[in-house]
Amino acid sequence: MEINRNTIIKDLIESHPETLTVFKKYNLVIAGGVRGPNEPIAFFAKAHEVDYDILVKELNEAIERGGGEHIEIPKLEEDKVYEVFVKAAIVLTLTVGVTFGAILLSYIAIKLNFHSIYYALIQAHGHAQLFGWVGLCIMGFALYIIPRVKNTELKHRNLVNICYGFIIAGLLLRIIVQPLPLRAARFLIPVSSILEIISICLFAFIILKTIFSSREKVGIFDKFFKAGIIWFLISAFINFGMIVYLYKHALHEIPRIVFSPFVHLYLFGFVFMFIFAINIRTVFAFLDIKPVREKAVNVTFWVMNISVPIYFITHIFANNSVVALRLSQFIVFPIAFALFTFIYGLRIFERSTQELQDVVMDRSYAKTIRTAYLWLIVTSVILLIIPFLGHGSELQQRFHGSLNHAVTVGFITMMIIGYASKMIPTFKGIDMYSLKLSNVTFILLNTGCFLRVFSQILVGTSSGKSLFYYAIMGTSGWFELAALGIFGYNLWKTMNTAQEIKQPVSTTKLTEATKDTKVFDVVDQYPETLQVFLDFGFSQMANPVLRNTMGRVASIEMATKMHSVDIDKFLKALNDKISLKK
Ligand code: HEM
Repeated sequence: MEINRNTIIKDLIESHPETLTVFKKYNLVIAGGVRGPNEPIAFFAKAHEVDYDILVKELNEAIERGGGEHIEIPKLEEDKVYEVFVKAAIVLTLTVGVTFGAILLSYIAIKLNFHSIYYALIQAHGHAQLFGWVGLCIMGFALYIIPRVKNTELKHRNLVNICYGFIIAGLLLRIIVQPLPLRAARFLIPVSSILEIISICLFAFIILKTIFSSREKVGIFDKFFKAGIIWFLISAFINFGMIVYLYKHALHEIPRIVFSPFVHLYLFGFVFMFIFAINIRTVFAFLDIKPVREKAVNVTFWVMNISVPIYFITHIFANNSVVALRLSQFIVFPIAFALFTFIYGLRIFERSTQELQDVVMDRSYAKTIRTAYLWLIVTSVILLIIPFLGHGSELQQRFHGSLNHAVTVGFITMMIIGYASKMIPTFKGIDMYSLKLSNVTFILLNTGCFLRVFSQILVGTSSGKSLFYYAIMGTSGWFELAALGIFGYNLWKTMNTAQEIKQPVSTTKLTEATKDTKVFDVVDQYPETLQVFLDFGFSQMANPVLRNTMGRVASIEMATKMHSVDIDKFLKALNDKISLKK
């Protein structure tokens, strides 16, 4: 098999299993189900920081050496460690998360009053989204990605199910019991928090053991992962503290003065550190841009990790001490500076290096990742405005709610969707179930988030009198629910799609392409002919879904007619390529 930059790794491994030894030599713990990643080799090399030419040279040498019994060929197993976490996150957000949020929002809009809601319900929604939707997604992805970026095996895999069981039990107990006016069940609230603490400690133990077991050189992303783990542990214990206070004082609502800054400690500490770590390690390949500016992302690391605890403590005491109030107003500037510095360091809006421009692959996730950072800019701007609005005023509370939404939906949820749409098909070695549905999700989520963030601000600036802004705000949650519903369906279908083990199809072995040959059969039996199709302008052949569908019905004659390509010239080029293989 002639290897070129668009050679799909799973096809290469399929026809030359001996190449797996080369991938193993580079310690490349393989993703991609039982047949290997559905990724072009040039992208794989960039993503794993391996020199493409050296890799191809060694792969060709392995092929020349051939297979046979003396070569131990590693077996590929599909690692599904992430699946239960991601599926539980989707179920939680589509039930007590976004659906609940959309109902609450419509109720607030109908009542024209943000204080019309029993706040314990909002906190239950908030907890379901923070620890359920976001927490479970990060836990699932981290358990899969960290061993691969650290080129090691996941340690204590036997503890993962216990970790999963405890967090799900803790979450459900908390979400159900906190708003419930049932004295007899109150003891279950501290129990829920203890279950969550045990799970998060287990997760931290597994991840830190895995990171420290790696012999890979320490990358700049490492300390972001470790800081993220520490903030996750701190959040779990602060959460426990808040719950004990709630239980001891027989309250249903955690005092807002503590809960709101806690939400930001969890987001800016745990969630941002994990997202930044994964972005630093992967965005340069995903968006085909230069690697990060290490100095800049280092500044972000230290400024964020010093500012977050100050932010949390000063906001708690802002009502009782002028010093704390001034500090809480000042600390948002270094945080915003750190976020802008990270965007500069990550080069997220910079031009592509074009290194992978000739590589054919689905890049639909790129706009989602970039849009997430646009929302991070919106978040930072709102953060900078808040100190100038009267402390504790209605206007400030509206801006605070918009900030929460811009960061939780605009940045974090968008990032989760962008990465899940790229990573999960890669984990499985298949394509996303529907790229069309991915685009619909992108449009609906941005529409809903835009309507929510800006209408809630306008509700505030119109001092809550404007029916129009309330109406827009009240509908925004349903756009987001539709977006996440479609995304959940699309991802669930993708996760349930098994990577088909290539059964030797009874198609006759193609020795020569003729005008009647089906386009699909040519590429299927001679993957290297894909380049010929692309060179002759059949760009949609780049899309594996179209190849698999239209390609099975379109003959060479039909295709050349449709694209007014000279059939003789095209057939000659194809058969030249095929004869090389014979
Ligand atoms: C996508 C659709 C969503 C809708 C319709 C929604 C709706 C709401 C509503 C109506 C409130 C109370 C009003 C306010 O404080 O602004 C609220 C608060 C909250 N939401 Fe959501 N939400 C959504 C997504 C999320 C996500 C993705 C997260 C977290 C990852 C989240 C976490 C929270 C938290 C923590 C609060 C309480 C904030 C505080 O009191 O300081 N929400 N949400």
